[in-house]
Amino acid sequence: MHVSALLWILGFLLKEAQAWGYKNGIFHNSIWLEQAAGVYHRESRKGRYQLTYKEAKAVCKYEGGKLATYEQLEAARQIGFHVCAAGWFDRGRVGYPIVKAGANCGFGKVGIVDYGYRLNKSEKWDVYCYNPNSKECGGVLTDQEKIIQSPGFPDEYQDEQICSWHVRVRLGQRIRLRFLEFDVEDDTSCLADYLEIYDSYDDVSGFAGRFCGDYLPDEIISTGNVMTLKFISDASVTAGGFQLQYDAFDASSFPQNSTGDFD
Ligand SMILES: *[C@@H]1O[C@H](CO)[C@@H](O)[C@H](O)[C@H]1NC(C)=O
Repeated sequence: MHVSALLWILGFLLKEAQAWGYKNGIFHNSIWLEQAAGVYHRESRKGRYQLTYKEAKAVCKYEGGKLATYEQLEAARQIGFHVCAAGWFDRGRVGYPIVKAGANCGFGKVGIVDYGYRLNKSEKWDVYCYNPNSKECGGVLTDQEKIIQSPGFPDEYQDEQICSWHVRVRLGQRIRLRFLEFDVEDDTSCLADYLEIYDSYDDVSGFAGRFCGDYLPDEIISTGNVMTLKFISDASVTAGGFQLQYDAFDASSFPQNSTGDFD
């Protein structure tokens, strides 16, 4: 390859690296990178640190993957996979990958923070799975418009699904999300199966609604250029599923305070 082409690529990569980076102590390209390396982090539906070793294995297996090995986790870490949460990996070992030393995470150390092989497999942690093939549902979506469907749609979705979609369009754009079809197991507070929408890059802040039943929700418009969708189904009763469509549009054509921008 010509040297100038190489330099151009290098410059491009550097620019990309700068475009991502840290925000609130979280390395925000990790979701993108996790796909590249086939390694990803999962927690229980009940929240952080709720999985025994056996349950952790089941989580990875369910999605067609396996527990990540130390080597896979390290390979992912070397291309930037950084997660501040201890999880099970292969053969009952627990740890997490740190790319950049921080005061609040990893004891100021870079590398795999290794808690070693746990003798007590009933301890509860998160999990690191390895699945080089695409996951059954979810992902990072950067297209200007796209259809998002429940797994298996138009067939009924299966029990025990966990899907996260992260929509990220260009800075200065917003996302309009429309519900085309919606049928998710109904219960009064949507505790069994549900779709959650967050006006944010993650499912921690910007909660915009939790939906179940077969009532078609109104469209949702993001305040910034990111949105997160999370679909959970429990161990029993399924339904027809859903189909949504998002499209990106210029924020300037729809003035409103923008709080969720993410570059
Ligand atoms: C193993 O871990 C579980 C969960 O933390 C705890 O309840 C249990 O007492 C531990 N067992 C032993 C033998 O330490």
